[in-house]
Amino acid sequence: MCIYGGTTCAVIASNNPEVVVTVVDLNAERIKAWSSDELPIYEPGLLHLVKKARDGARRNLFFSKSISSAIIEADLIFMCVNTPTKQTGPGAGQALELDYLEGAIRRIAEVAQNDKIIVEKSTVPCRTAETIREILDTTGRPGVKFSVLSNPEFLAAGTAIADLLQPDRVLIGCSKTPDGYSAAGALADVYAAWMPRDRIITINLFSAELTKLAANALLAQRISSINSLSAICEATGADIEEVTYACGLDSRIGPSMFKASVGFGGSCFKKDILSLCYISEFLGLAEVSAYWKSVIDINEYQKDKFTSRIVSCLGNTVTKKKLAVLGFTFKKDTDDTRESAAISVVSRLVAEGAHVSIYDPCAKTDQIWRDIGTYVTVCESAYEACMNAQAVIILTEWDEFNNRVTTDAQRSSDRLRGPQPGFVNLIRSKLDWPLVADIMCPPKYVFDGRNVVDAGKLEELGFRVECVGKPSMS
Ligand SMILES: NC(=O)c1ccc[n+]([C@@H]2O[C@H](COP(=O)([O-])OP(=O)(O)OC[C@H]3O[C@@H](n4cnc5c(N)ncnc54)[C@H](O)[C@@H]3O)[C@@H](O)[C@H]2O)c1
Repeated sequence: MCIYGGTTCAVIASNNPEVVVTVVDLNAERIKAWSSDELPIYEPGLLHLVKKARDGARRNLFFSKSISSAIIEADLIFMCVNTPTKQTGPGAGQALELDYLEGAIRRIAEVAQNDKIIVEKSTVPCRTAETIREILDTTGRPGVKFSVLSNPEFLAAGTAIADLLQPDRVLIGCSKTPDGYSAAGALADVYAAWMPRDRIITINLFSAELTKLAANALLAQRISSINSLSAICEATGADIEEVTYACGLDSRIGPSMFKASVGFGGSCFKKDILSLCYISEFLGLAEVSAYWKSVIDINEYQKDKFTSRIVSCLGNTVTKKKLAVLGFTFKKDTDDTRESAAISVVSRLVAEGAHVSIYDPCAKTDQIWRDIGTYVTVCESAYEACMNAQAVIILTEWDEFNNRVTTDAQRSSDRLRGPQPGFVNLIRSKLDWPLVADIMCPPKYVFDGRNVVDAGKLEELGFRVECVGKPSMS
């Protein structure tokens, strides 16, 4: 078996000891990192899992630069290549870039010597499987048969291992032919090694492709919906936390993905919604496209509104003021900064002349500089960032930043996170807020972009606290 990508393969290998899993990537640096103790991504519990399958007595997880040999040896090939938003050409700024996927497919067609099952794991537009099939059928060797399946990945960064081990569902899209069902059965056997069969759902190929885009769009839509309501709360005196709690108790609505914040980020939501907009426009469904585009528009509005609130509270100017930013990744428990709300907020504050000091327990300093496009101070500790700052801005919900009592669930998540070589020790103690109050300068604002602090307790320490979806104090 040959897999592009890393986390899914570690879970597959560790649950299928009799299966050989080989991960290949064009990026040799990444393969080197996957083969070391400093994995290319931070994901709680991942190193432990990789080491078990890669270095244990019954080794069955391999990382290799030899793409062609891995293809030749594989029965199932998981396509996990990147599908970012297109930057040039038709559909630029909206459509997904399928160049990497096409490159990988052409390579498979060129070197495969026997029948293969090709599994689309990358997020792709609806009907991509048809294009893959056409390429394979027209360029593959005579006599070699390819089956194409869609098996979208629903894991979320930060909880990927738990998501993979106990998924709500595994979706397999196949063509409704005997060959299609047989290929789907072979893939289902891989997952059935660690999950009940009734969680593995087989549906139409194109439905599976669209489901991934739809699921991300629906999740992002919930966040934008609650964020749009947070603006009404700020203007009226209603409290978004009370509104979400009360709405979420309705079993038809439910509480998940329902927290007001500075806005969503990550590599998937925006690009997948843009892809849905592009498909809608292509199909002549302009109203549908505009509907989904509004989810992104509210997200941009939310980031901008939060930044404007900071500037307004600080006397309508942040020029030469020292501001501490706590958290830069798009969510906690990941080192991924792609599309992080922090990029927009920090970029604008820097553009307005603020002296911004950033602390994040996991984001890499050179990545932060690349994201902001200019030099900003990146600190080793939250205290260094907060020293002499007039305001603290919380942009990621890392557990250490809140001033609430640690729960059992959090303690066990801390254990899972564990220290990982190459990353700062992630089991950290909670921020000492009284100390932060001592080392800051007036007016000592806390702008909580994730609604993680107990504002009342911080106000007792002399902070002025501004939370999303709650009326402003000033
Ligand atoms: N990151 C997530 O949380 C997540 C979750 C669900 C789905 N997805 C989807 O999974 C796909 C991959 O996402 P990612 O975040 O892992 O991307 P990524 O950019 O981190 O990794 C993709 C890897 O594919 C490699 N690659 C590109 N072309 C190749 C080729 N022809 N042969 C071999 N390797 C090649 C790249 O070098 C890169 O290392 C995307 O379609 C994404 O939408 C991602």
